[in-house]
Amino acid sequence: MIKVVLFTVVTMLFMVGCSDDATKSANAEVKSKQEVKEDVKVAVAEIKEEAKATASDVKEDTQAVVADIKEETKSVVADVKEEAKAALQESKVVVAEKTAAVQEAIASVQAPVATVDAVSLYKVCAGCHGMDGSKPALNKSQVIKGWDAKKISDALHGYKAGTYGGAMKGLMGAQVSKLGDAEIEALAQHISKF
Ligand code: HEC
Repeated sequence: MIKVVLFTVVTMLFMVGCSDDATKSANAEVKSKQEVKEDVKVAVAEIKEEAKATASDVKEDTQAVVADIKEETKSVVADVKEEAKAALQESKVVVAEKTAAVQEAIASVQAPVATVDAVSLYKVCAGCHGMDGSKPALNKSQVIKGWDAKKISDALHGYKAGTYGGAMKGLMGAQVSKLGDAEIEALAQHISKF
């Protein structure tokens, strides 16, 4: 009986010992799992940190690049503006010069016509041709009243060049030798309106 009890006690002790071992090893396993979990957690946190740092680095780099590009674009735009301004200024000067030249040309064309006083010029002619061109000059010339401007102008240019006229063309040549083109034109216009 004592043997049996002893056996039982020993067996129980053994079992308790065993189960304690099993619990211990199970506990150890759980612990190591927890450690792994911890490690993973730490690793994940580190990766997150790193990712964050990298992201902020990239952000900073990108900002710096964007700022550079902005600076460069600004300076290029400023250059282009400067160039455009200069070109505009130049073309303005050219336009102003051309305008002045054109105005001068217009003035030089208009001036003689404007200053030619056909009425005064004709006063000399009137002595022979009559106030309204209706007299045959020195009883030799044709009556010039009623002639159109071109016919008069051609005759006057012809007398000046010695290529037109009758017996007294020398006399008329002397009359028109000092007249310029503009004066002949003005006289022709004036006489054609008699
Ligand atoms: C001293 C007189 C005299 C004066 C001044 C004079 N003429 Fe004459 N004119 C003549 C005579 C003469 C003729 C004809 C000449 C000829 O033989 O072709 C003539 C001819 C002309 C003709 C052409 C007519 C034709 O018979 O073919 C015209 C046009 C004319 N004269 C315009 C003028 C004008 C314009 C002036 C003023 C700038 C002028 N004359 C001044 C005497 C004169």
